[in-house]
Amino acid sequence: MKKILLIVSGGIAAYRALDLIREIKRRGDDVTCVLTKSATQFVQPLSFGALSQNKVYMDLFDLESETNIGHIKLSRDADLIVLAPATANILAKMSYGVSDSLATSILLANNKPLLIAPSMNVKMWNNPATKENIEKLKSYGHIFVGPDEGEMACGEVGSGKMSKVEDIYKEIELLLSPGPLKGKKALVTSGPTIEPIDPVRFISNRSSGKQGHAIADRLSKLGADTHLITGPVNIPYPENVLVTEVNTAEEMLNACKESIPVDISIFAAAVSDWKASEISKNKIKKSINNQNDDEMVLTMMQNPDILKTISETNTNRPKLVVGFTLETENLIKSARSKMLNKSCDWMIANSHVQENQSVFNNDMNEVSFLTNNSEENWGLISKQCVAENLCNKIIKFFDSAA
Ligand SMILES: Cc1cc2nc3c(=O)[nH]c(=O)nc-3n(C[C@H](O)[C@H](O)[C@H](O)COP(=O)(O)O)c2cc1C
Repeated sequence: MKKILLIVSGGIAAYRALDLIREIKRRGDDVTCVLTKSATQFVQPLSFGALSQNKVYMDLFDLESETNIGHIKLSRDADLIVLAPATANILAKMSYGVSDSLATSILLANNKPLLIAPSMNVKMWNNPATKENIEKLKSYGHIFVGPDEGEMACGEVGSGKMSKVEDIYKEIELLLSPGPLKGKKALVTSGPTIEPIDPVRFISNRSSGKQGHAIADRLSKLGADTHLITGPVNIPYPENVLVTEVNTAEEMLNACKESIPVDISIFAAAVSDWKASEISKNKIKKSINNQNDDEMVLTMMQNPDILKTISETNTNRPKLVVGFTLETENLIKSARSKMLNKSCDWMIANSHVQENQSVFNNDMNEVSFLTNNSEENWGLISKQCVAENLCNKIIKFFDSAA
């Protein structure tokens, strides 16, 4: 039986924390609740006590609880702390280290993993102040679930709804279990590569890294010792993942070679197929040798094929090699022939365009999952979902190999 300390702050979703308590109890775990003063405006403490079958804590200066320094002991006794719902206010306080209540004192003195389920109005969520606070809290290693998109209690529509109780519980389960991929080593490539032409110019592509990063995040949450090798991106790195930053395809290949042996390798980076045959030492001038200024010829040569190189390596080939491919025509046929040509075990085929939107920098992805003898179309789903589906396949692969 695991012990969860549930901190409830004062948002409209506070009543949904009651369902979370029921789910935790139903699974046989113990839950103790701490409420902020505002939370008690939304739901009576009695409901939390009745459902958790434990004392409910609210007051920092509670003589009885503080005889044992309650605000420290509560977190020390727990296996996991869950903050749900998390208001914009409490997130701001946490980001600045404010400790003006029992809840915020516990959060500041905490030494346990912390799962946060934000819930607020869409404008509050999108406010740069909130965004900055969230980034800061993520960089401290706290784990976020949600928020979801949808219609809010106030009638506005957008991102900010607290995640579904089952999704929050799924994260709790992951955090409390040793993880089905514990003991496995994983390598994930992500983002674009950039290939210099001269000291100031380069060739690259629009890959955002969202898909590769989501996969690395999922693998790590499932217990895999995960190494993310990424080209330059503008998104935060997943927590608890070793990150190597690279620029060129050659650097990415070298980092991959150094990373093996691994059990799982996933090549989600959009690697540039070509690089400049020669990188000019100086900035190339607009006018070259007084020749025809309207044209400039750049000679390019092929980059190494990272997927093929690692997949066909004689020593230390990963047990599972998964490639990603993006095609604009004959998707499945081309993906299958690439899979054969590159000797990889599975291939995930992205279709390039959905409703005139590129897969790059989009939160959604339309993919097909190919093995030597099967093909599944996963449809248009979030990149997080692609990561989840893929990791479920990986767990099955290692279960059946065991
Ligand atoms: C009816 C009502 C609903 C509210 N819902 C939310 C909410 O969903 N999310 C949020 O961040 N703040 C919400 N607030 C504002 C918080 O209650 C307020 O920021 C409060 O100071 C939060 O205190 P706490 O973070 O200590 O619990 C709401 C306020 C009211 C009056």
